[in-house]
Amino acid sequence: MNKRSRIGACLGLLLTLGPPLAARAASPAAVVGTEGMVVSESSKASRIGAEVLLAGGNAVDAAVAVHFALAVTYPQAGNLGGGGFMVLRTADGSIEAIDFRETAPATATRDLFIGAGGNPDPVLSRTSHLAVGVPGSVAGMALAHERHGTRTWRELVEPATRLAESGFILDRYIANHLYVYQGRLGQNPEASRIFLRDGDFYQQGDSLHQPELGETLRRIARFGPTEFYTGETADSLIAEMVRGGGIMTSEDLRGYRAKIREPLVGSYHDLTVLTMPPPSSGGIALLQMLHCLEAFPVGRLGAGSSQNCHFLAEVMKRAFADRAEFLGDADFTPVPVEGLLEKSYLDSLCASIDPNWATPNLHAGPGMPRGAQEFYSATGGQTTHFSIVDAEGNAVAVTTTLNTNYGTGIMVRGAGFFLNNEMDDFAAAPGSPNYYGLIQGEANEVRAFARPLSSMTPTIVLRGDELALILGSPGGPKIITSVLQTLVNVVDHEMDIQAAISAPRIHHQWVPDTLRIEPGGMTVDVYQALERRGHALGRSSAMGSVQGIQIVQTPKGRMLLGASDPRRNGHPVGIVRGRLVTR
Ligand code: DON
Repeated sequence: MNKRSRIGACLGLLLTLGPPLAARAASPAAVVGTEGMVVSESSKASRIGAEVLLAGGNAVDAAVAVHFALAVTYPQAGNLGGGGFMVLRTADGSIEAIDFRETAPATATRDLFIGAGGNPDPVLSRTSHLAVGVPGSVAGMALAHERHGTRTWRELVEPATRLAESGFILDRYIANHLYVYQGRLGQNPEASRIFLRDGDFYQQGDSLHQPELGETLRRIARFGPTEFYTGETADSLIAEMVRGGGIMTSEDLRGYRAKIREPLVGSYHDLTVLTMPPPSSGGIALLQMLHCLEAFPVGRLGAGSSQNCHFLAEVMKRAFADRAEFLGDADFTPVPVEGLLEKSYLDSLCASIDPNWATPNLHAGPGMPRGAQEFYSATGGQTTHFSIVDAEGNAVAVTTTLNTNYGTGIMVRGAGFFLNNEMDDFAAAPGSPNYYGLIQGEANEVRAFARPLSSMTPTIVLRGDELALILGSPGGPKIITSVLQTLVNVVDHEMDIQAAISAPRIHHQWVPDTLRIEPGGMTVDVYQALERRGHALGRSSAMGSVQGIQIVQTPKGRMLLGASDPRRNGHPVGIVRGRLVTR
């Protein structure tokens, strides 16, 4: 192994494992702003968003600019070729969710990902051209902008265009990420040339130029969002599909629509929780788990206590069992949203929790299927979340993704952007696990035009009529449990948002029946106590990356605490007296 590869391997390991807990304990304090706050996983994107706010744009304007900037500076998850969800609350109190999740092409069928041997073929659903859902991001940003934007579309796409064309200096995190994912990136000649310099590899401090992406962004800025769906960019995308044997057509692209949805509204103690409805499973699962936790003295039991870990694990199992059995795209299959959130149903669900013992083999849903354990992948996938609040109190939570890192790894030739592999979020066959080990049922089978079930959970929390929290995370299924634990840490354990995000997390997703803990995230006595209660314990490192804002009302007005997750590379940028503040 040469020196470069040794360093790369070490850093790769670090990227995979995340910083050890001791490092997390030293995580920096939240950034404090008064007139606005943007928290994303890219310093440049956060700054661009804060500059939009400073120039008089609102939180939605800033979100559009941040989203496009992430497509340049955070290529593993930021995207033009993916999708996501936005939950927003305007200063006058109106709420809305924008669903820009990818859709299955018109000719997609139930057995699309069944391979020659009659079983689901992960290559087909993850790295082939068939894995690509019709991208929703550009339409989603356009819909948000059309309804709430105050600056011109062009003005908001422009900073990303400049970053792509003029290049930007790579930080250590992105430089190493590109190195670690050379296997995926190296399979595509365009990706290899742009992101690996054909094997010469980027180092921290190098400048990354993306001229093709710059041209694509310039077209989108100039001709508007429909350019992506019907213009030269669409032509390039379809040419890529034809080249690789994909099934997406020009009609699929032309027909894509982002949708306005009503956020789910729930409560936790004295707080109101606004979160994402189907096709996300996140909102339903979050509200179910919060309902059960409310019945336990979580605050009094203390953060990280074995009793609380037990309760958390048990509520997680139940929510994920329901997810597997009942959830899918409600536009195409009946999803009993109201029933799943009805008090009497939830009370019975929570009543099945034994306060002392783990419930083994919880028998909702299709049961432990073949291959679940081996497919369960703790690391690797990537998505990104950003949270924004402006001076008026408009709040936006956006989670966006290509699904796994760099999606399929397929770049649209000449257009400089990656295509998602979101089709893997469908159940390739009922009961067979997806990349994240999630078991899903017929409600989430592959259907033409449907959106695959997601775990993305952009969330806004209110205290009375006032904003209290804006948060969300990447992490596949761990998104939901990361958002849950951050919220509980603030509400029950009275942590500030940064401490709440940095605190160790656990994760259970029903199948496999393993309670995941972070390396170094639990004391031995708690570990042993959980084992005695009957929990099977396992390790997992990639426990989300929450980017959050806590809003504290003070006699002098709102104080905005911007906090990012030390597990990855987040950057809060706030505004105080007309100036940007950051770490
Ligand atoms: O929508 C979903 O649930 C997944 N495609 C999200 C993937 C993800 O969060 C990977 N992140 N680490």
